[in-house]
Amino acid sequence: MKEDRASSTAQRVAMLRAAHQLLDDPKVFDDPVALRIIGKESASALQADPRQLESTPLSPYLRAFVAARSRYAEDELALGVRRGARQYVILGAGFDTFAYRNPHPEGVLHVFEVDHPTTQTRKQERLKEIGITLPGDLTFAPVDFETQTLGEGLRAAGYDPGKCTFFSWLGVTEYLMTEAVMAVLRSIASAPAGSGVVFDYMISPSLLNPAQRSRFDALARRVASAGEPWQAFFDPELLTRDLRAMGFGYVEDQGPEEINVKYFKNRKDGLRVGTLSHVMKAEV
Ligand SMILES: C[S@@+](CC[C@H](N)C(=O)[O-])C[C@H]1O[C@@H](n2cnc3c(N)ncnc32)[C@H](O)[C@@H]1O
Repeated sequence: MKEDRASSTAQRVAMLRAAHQLLDDPKVFDDPVALRIIGKESASALQADPRQLESTPLSPYLRAFVAARSRYAEDELALGVRRGARQYVILGAGFDTFAYRNPHPEGVLHVFEVDHPTTQTRKQERLKEIGITLPGDLTFAPVDFETQTLGEGLRAAGYDPGKCTFFSWLGVTEYLMTEAVMAVLRSIASAPAGSGVVFDYMISPSLLNPAQRSRFDALARRVASAGEPWQAFFDPELLTRDLRAMGFGYVEDQGPEEINVKYFKNRKDGLRVGTLSHVMKAEV
């Protein structure tokens, strides 16, 4: 992303989650703050025309994926808290709203929002604009994954490396260099037993069939022209192997079939995810 301005993809995916609240029934991801967090003007415009983001026939697939990855991360977070997680680190948080609807009593689950400093500043301004008070159980940790280590950024924010922690990392890996992605995953692998991470990633273009490849190319051109080109892609089998080698004891990949069975079965509207991205869970 460009150094001097907040991520535009962060606003875009937040708008997709807001559109999901307005358009899709039943909702896969129920987020009562989704509409407010996009800002007053964008919320009014979206309410007036909830399909304003449907620029191509592929748009509903993207909305479905953005909703499903958040649902999966928060379902796994709930399991993680039952296993003893007391910190939730949201990596590349963008306009994620979990901290502002944290269902746990204060003192149970401390949330760290880690993001590029410019996006984080924009979010803090947005929270002020829309009148959301910062909860006591939230700490912001500005980190540029390309130039700083996650460990340094978290330690400076008061993260306790001795506590069982759940991490989510949604919609970010594709924007980084592969080595930066692996460095963050290695850092998570050193968290105490019981810790875990859910993240999504893009499939290597070399594994796509021609139809998938042309959808990939069209989307890649769009994000590159917005100044946030895709840079990292993975082969699910190799990534699984690498995560095990880092020390994760349990690794589970969710491809489109698994995600569609889990969250989009028997829908009347046909909403489902497409084939370009997977969601990975890895537990220490
Ligand atoms: C598509 S948004 C996803 C936001 C959020 N996770 C969500 O799902 O709504 C990508 C996020 O990655 C962050 N990001 C991109 N490059 C980064 C970097 N080098 N260091 C830290 N964060 C970065 C952006 O600031 C932005 O918040």
